Amino acid sequence: MSQPHRHDVLIIGSGAAGLSAALKLPAHLNIAVLSKGRLNNGSTYFAQGGVAAVLDETDSIEAHVSDTLDAGGGLCREDAVHFTVANSREAINWLLELGVPFTRNTPEQALEQHYAYHLTREGGHSHRRIIHAADATGAAIFDTLLRHARQRSNIHLLEHQVAVDLIVQPRTGQLGNRCTGAYVLNTESGEVETHAARFVILATGGAAKVYLYTSNPDGACGDGIAMAWRAGCRVANLEFNQFHPTCLYHPQAKSFLITEALRGEGAILTLPNGERFMERYDSRLELAPRDIVARAIDHEMKRLGLDHVYLDISHKPAAFIREHFPTVYRRCLKFGLDIAREPIPVVPAAHYTCGGVMVDQNGRTDLESLYAIGETSYTGLHGANRMASNSLLECFVYAQSAVEHINARLDTVVMPDQPPVWDSSQVRDSDEDVVISHNWDELRRFMWNYVGIVRTDKRLQRALHRVLLLHKEIEEFYSNYKVSPDLLELRNLAQVAELMIRCAMQRKESRGLHFTLDYPEQLPEALETVLRPDPAAV
Ligand code: FAD
Ligand code: SIN
Repeated sequence: MSQPHRHDVLIIGSGAAGLSAALKLPAHLNIAVLSKGRLNNGSTYFAQGGVAAVLDETDSIEAHVSDTLDAGGGLCREDAVHFTVANSREAINWLLELGVPFTRNTPEQALEQHYAYHLTREGGHSHRRIIHAADATGAAIFDTLLRHARQRSNIHLLEHQVAVDLIVQPRTGQLGNRCTGAYVLNTESGEVETHAARFVILATGGAAKVYLYTSNPDGACGDGIAMAWRAGCRVANLEFNQFHPTCLYHPQAKSFLITEALRGEGAILTLPNGERFMERYDSRLELAPRDIVARAIDHEMKRLGLDHVYLDISHKPAAFIREHFPTVYRRCLKFGLDIAREPIPVVPAAHYTCGGVMVDQNGRTDLESLYAIGETSYTGLHGANRMASNSLLECFVYAQSAVEHINARLDTVVMPDQPPVWDSSQVRDSDEDVVISHNWDELRRFMWNYVGIVRTDKRLQRALHRVLLLHKEIEEFYSNYKVSPDLLELRNLAQVAELMIRCAMQRKESRGLHFTLDYPEQLPEALETVLRPDPAAV
């Protein structure tokens, strides 16, 4: 049996949140950063639009706060919004110091925009405030963070390591249970290894893979949310899954995202007959918040029996399109579509998990020494609907505050005692892996059909019934067979799907991203949906 690995800080996730935390922690600490596949397999690498921040002198913290609150449907935590926005300039300056190659303004544009870097616009923003690296902002940020992390000898970047569950040390009285590490499947050796740590940071990203159609990469299975829940942490607002209005409709495109920045730079949404329809839904037209635009598209598709609508930017000069949107331009061209000459067929797809593991302003969860940052967390910033490009910002701001909190406790939190090792003596190799892929497919299909853009009580009940059946099968599988990455992801997806359904069932109103035909009105009071694990089950 192998000895446990020991770290001062174990960071589960190598996206914007995890790498930022690793770089911000002191260089004398031993830090491990885990990724379940390649290091760049999270959503961060695929982010297109940019990072929202108050950067030019004609913008203001008040305006960014007010836009965020408005997009969030009355459900944002105002202190979280203020905190994040107030720290936005510092977050961007840190990225600039690291050398992220954000798109620069020409001298004329700089005079007009009062800022050296180009700022674009996206839905819900009343001001141009999105700093970006053309339309591949995530890759530019990720590559820069990774380059710096590789230069730090105290940061150990561990690929192909799938965290299975958190290790919890029960404590009595006032102390509260403590997280002391995680069990991790090393997919190269096939063994589950024990990682003990003084502090653990969950930075595992979102859960949009719970839906059949999603803009997210394959690993977005809500692992961190499921692990935290099983370890005894509260989760909140999981009914608010954001559907991005415009993903490419093409059989081979796997829901490739068409950035909202296209609409920010003038692209319009049309029906097949060329009619522009957003004016029937919101005075902000194509730049209304995402919940409104996605619902409008869904409504038009259902009303007219369409497979997709169109997004058209072909009225802009071809050179402008190629310069501002090289990634989208090239990818569409690969599918035979020249966006400088013709409209793009688009559909909504699951994109962002607004709820997650409940944390405070320092990213602290309900477990001592366990932090959650980035998309896996619920800070209160996004409320009932995340405003575009606020999520990368949240990763950087909360990585900073979590690190500050850890720094203040370095002298008092010791390395845990020997944690119990993983016992695989009672399990055997699976001979029925096909069950896993069937269950994956079934889960993602009924979540799309019953817990999608438009919901009803009956659909939610059907979804709950099915997910509970799946749970039983999965738990049986989990108890009898050796764990595999697919089984672990399915187990987590089913757990998070159940939490999403339960949150949705509790909300007896329509607000933001949660729209139900049974309760189309908004209640006067905006309340978070908080789920607490049963202490007996932990
Ligand atoms: P991620 O970047 O998703 O990283 C998660 C990490 O956790 C990965 O390294 C993964 O391997 C690891 N992990 C997960 N589970 C486990 C496990 N069990 N064990 C070990 N490791 C694990 N937001 C913006 O603000 N602006 C944008 O322009 C923008 N564009 C987007 C475009 C696309 C196509 C997508 C999908 C999202 C976009 N978003 C955007 C959202 C934003 O990219 C994400 O919210 C953000 O990158 C999440 O960062 P993260 O660090 O929390 O997680
Ligand atoms: C986009 O570029 O449209 C995505 C931005 C985001 O999700 O914040």
